[in-house]
Amino acid sequence: MNKLQIGKMPQLPFEVSEAINQLRINLSFCGSDVKTIMITSSTPNEGKSFVTMQLWRMIAELGTPAVLIDCDFRKSEMRSKYGMSTSGQLIGGVHYLAGKAELDDVIYETNVPNGYIIPVAKTVTNPAILLESERFAQMIEHCRQRFGVVLIDTPPLGSVADAMNIATHCDGTVLVVRGGETPRKVVGDSVQQLKRTGVPLLGVVLDRAEMNSKSSLYYKRYYKSGYYYKGYGSEKSQPVQK
Ligand SMILES: Nc1ncnc2c1ncn2[C@@H]1O[C@H](COP(=O)(O)OP(=O)(O)OP(=O)(O)O)[C@@H](O)[C@H]1O
Ligand SMILES: [Mg+2]
Repeated sequence: MNKLQIGKMPQLPFEVSEAINQLRINLSFCGSDVKTIMITSSTPNEGKSFVTMQLWRMIAELGTPAVLIDCDFRKSEMRSKYGMSTSGQLIGGVHYLAGKAELDDVIYETNVPNGYIIPVAKTVTNPAILLESERFAQMIEHCRQRFGVVLIDTPPLGSVADAMNIATHCDGTVLVVRGGETPRKVVGDSVQQLKRTGVPLLGVVLDRAEMNSKSSLYYKRYYKSGYYYKGYGSEKSQPVQK
C-alpha cells in the first residue's frame, strides 16, 4: 500500500481534544451501522476539514481503522495545510474517479496508526459528473466494507451541490457551524437541505465557539454540574449524565 506522511499535526489543546473526543463518543452511540459519515457546513471556512481531520485522527489512534476521503474536489487545501507528502507522485480521488488510477493506488496508509486517506491531488472545476458516477459509489462502498469508519470532507452546502450528492452515499451527516459567525437562518436552511436528502443528520458541531460568551456559560454550567448535552443521534438533545 502507498504511504503518505502527514507532517503538520500539532497536539491539540486539552479543551479541543476533549470536544473532539465527545464528538467521537456521541457518533459511536449512533449505532454500528453508521459507518460512513459526511462532514459539511453552510459556508466556507467554518472548520469542516479541521473537524474531519481531528476526528479521523482520534478514531484511528484509538484503534479503529478509519479512512478520510477528501471530497473537496474543487479546492481542497488539506495537502498543504497538513503537510502531506509521499515518496512518489501523489495521486488521489479525482484520478481514480476519472479512470486514471485504481482504488488501491489512491488509498494511502499514513503515519497515524490505523489512519488511511484518499487525498485530493488534483482539483477539478466541475466534479458533479464524477460524484454521480458509478466509480464514486463503488469507492464509498469499498471503503465502507474495508474500514471501521469512513469520514468524508466536503465543500460547503451553500455554494455547490456536491455535498448533497455525496450525502446520498452516506449513513449520516454532520453539520459544522462556526460559532458567532454563521447566521441562524443559514444554519436552519442547511439543516432543511440535509434533511431533504433523507440521510440522517447526526448532529451539529459548534466550532470555534467563544468560550466566554453568554451562551457558552450556559453549557459550562451544565458541564460543571456533571452534565453535558448530547447533540448526536437523536433529533432532541437529551441531558446525559457523565
Ligand atoms: N476548533 C478550531 N481550533 C483551531 N483552529 C481551527 C478550528 N477550527 C478550524 N480552525 C482553523 O480555521 C481554518 C478554517 O478551517 P477549515 O479549513 O477546517 O474550514 P473549512 O470549513 O474546511 O473551509 P473550506 O470551506 O475552505 O474547506 C483553518 O486554518 C483551521 O485550521
Ligand atoms: Mg475544508
